[in-house]
Amino acid sequence: MKIIRTVKELKEVVTADKAQGRSIGLVPTMGALHEGHLSLIERARNDNDIVIVSLFVNPTQFNNPEDLRTYPRTEAADCSKLETAKVDYAFIPSVEEIYPEPDTRVFDLGPVANVMEGAMRPGHFNGVAQIVSKLFAMTTPDRAYFGEKDFQQIAVINKMVELEGFDIEIVECPIKRESDGLAMSSRNVRLTPEQREIAPAIHRTLVGSIDWARNHTVEQTKRYVIDTINSFPSMDTEYYEIVDGHNMQPISDWSDTDYPVGCVTVYCGNVRLIDNIKYPNSTKNN
Ligand code: PAF
Repeated sequence: MKIIRTVKELKEVVTADKAQGRSIGLVPTMGALHEGHLSLIERARNDNDIVIVSLFVNPTQFNNPEDLRTYPRTEAADCSKLETAKVDYAFIPSVEEIYPEPDTRVFDLGPVANVMEGAMRPGHFNGVAQIVSKLFAMTTPDRAYFGEKDFQQIAVINKMVELEGFDIEIVECPIKRESDGLAMSSRNVRLTPEQREIAPAIHRTLVGSIDWARNHTVEQTKRYVIDTINSFPSMDTEYYEIVDGHNMQPISDWSDTDYPVGCVTVYCGNVRLIDNIKYPNSTKNN
């Protein structure tokens, strides 16, 4: 595996690979790699001749400076995982390399970016669109891989791809979970042992809500999830929204969509965790 730190070198290797007719898969990450990332890389490895993984903690998508400061940075451990996963290129640029000048672009991402994470973290999705569009322009991949834990982010990236006219397949990969159901996340390492024990209640509650939803309204189901999660010590739900998975807009009736998805954000102590659940299409009676 080659470690690349400059855009110039990245473009050189990509141009050479493309000239040989090799397909390219990109897995954008912010490092602190876990098995969720490795599952994206494995998928990219199966689909493409060349796999590029970017490790870059993108400052423009953090609206909270403390979150940016404490975001885990584990480059050496990440690189050894990438070697094992048979990645071709690890792209690990500095902030100056990616943003030699401030990126002032404002993306017209529309309704998918205005709710949930977009409402709670102003500027976050614009920052995601900035970095992902830069990475796409630098690597010109055939396919790019994203995890469904960040369900709304995938919708935003699809919108950015449409706006920018990129000819890139966005591959959505299922959430990877710990054996107790907690969605894998780079932030999990910041949980105290007590919080780590409680955190799987998020997924358990979401799964439980599928049964609850069969004979309760959307509003009652939202209440059930929020109240159940908040009944655990140190857990505080920031939002629970049930949306049309096609466009991220909140629904008020199960019959509003054939693809209801519940999206939650929970503070476990001061660690912000997100997760989601797809309700069966049969949740329609209320
Ligand atoms: O999902 C993430 O880790 C980040 O938002 C991404 C897509 C790598 C952009 O910085």
